[in-house]
Amino acid sequence: MPSLPPVIAIDGPTASGKGTVAVLVAEALGFHYLESGALYRLVALASERVGLNSSDAVALGQLSSTLSITFKDGLVLLQGEDVSTALRAEPIGKRASEVAIHPQVRAALVGLQRSFRQLPGLVADGRDMGSVIFPDASLKVYLTASVLARGQRRYKQLIAKGFSANMTDLLRDLEERDARDQTRENAPLLIAAGAKTLDTSDLSVDQAVRQVLAWYQG
Ligand code: C5P
Repeated sequence: MPSLPPVIAIDGPTASGKGTVAVLVAEALGFHYLESGALYRLVALASERVGLNSSDAVALGQLSSTLSITFKDGLVLLQGEDVSTALRAEPIGKRASEVAIHPQVRAALVGLQRSFRQLPGLVADGRDMGSVIFPDASLKVYLTASVLARGQRRYKQLIAKGFSANMTDLLRDLEERDARDQTRENAPLLIAAGAKTLDTSDLSVDQAVRQVLAWYQG
């Protein structure tokens, strides 16, 4: 049986820098890239637009399986509309972690996530890439950083995208989101079996990328 394209799974808490590192690792290797968090953010945005309650598991599951989602040239399109910036708003991240607790939503997104596994390989980031979606990944990384370092990074990202941000609220939201992601019953955020942990609190982006590449190539 032919072997499947290789996968590097990078999981970690909110604003740990996994997206930045994952994109650069994918670029260095010429691999495809999957930002799985964007899918949960899309469900959050689309369901908010049609007025669904974030606790309505059945309706959210149905909506998740019918969304038209396109990733193109660094943009994210929902039913053809560019929602790349709208997805980054903090309330959408928070709502994403609420809709992501439902097994109906998670199940609806499994096939789409696995379809990104194409030659020459894939770098995927999220919460359950190494534990649930790609348990056979060639390399699993758990990328983390202190709450303060993550809060500062998220603050800079939001300001750079033109959103207003307040550090106290951000830190509280980060901790709430971490707690929800770590304690949910379905696919909680955890250190997957065999994963290597990388604390990036005191690392530059370049150092983190080089470490992941060294693990993969080694
Ligand atoms: O990674 P990001 O912060 O954009 O993800 C938003 C939310 O989506 C997370 O807080 C988490 O609840 C959910 N998520 C998930 N599984 C993934 C990726 C994201 O549950 N693989």
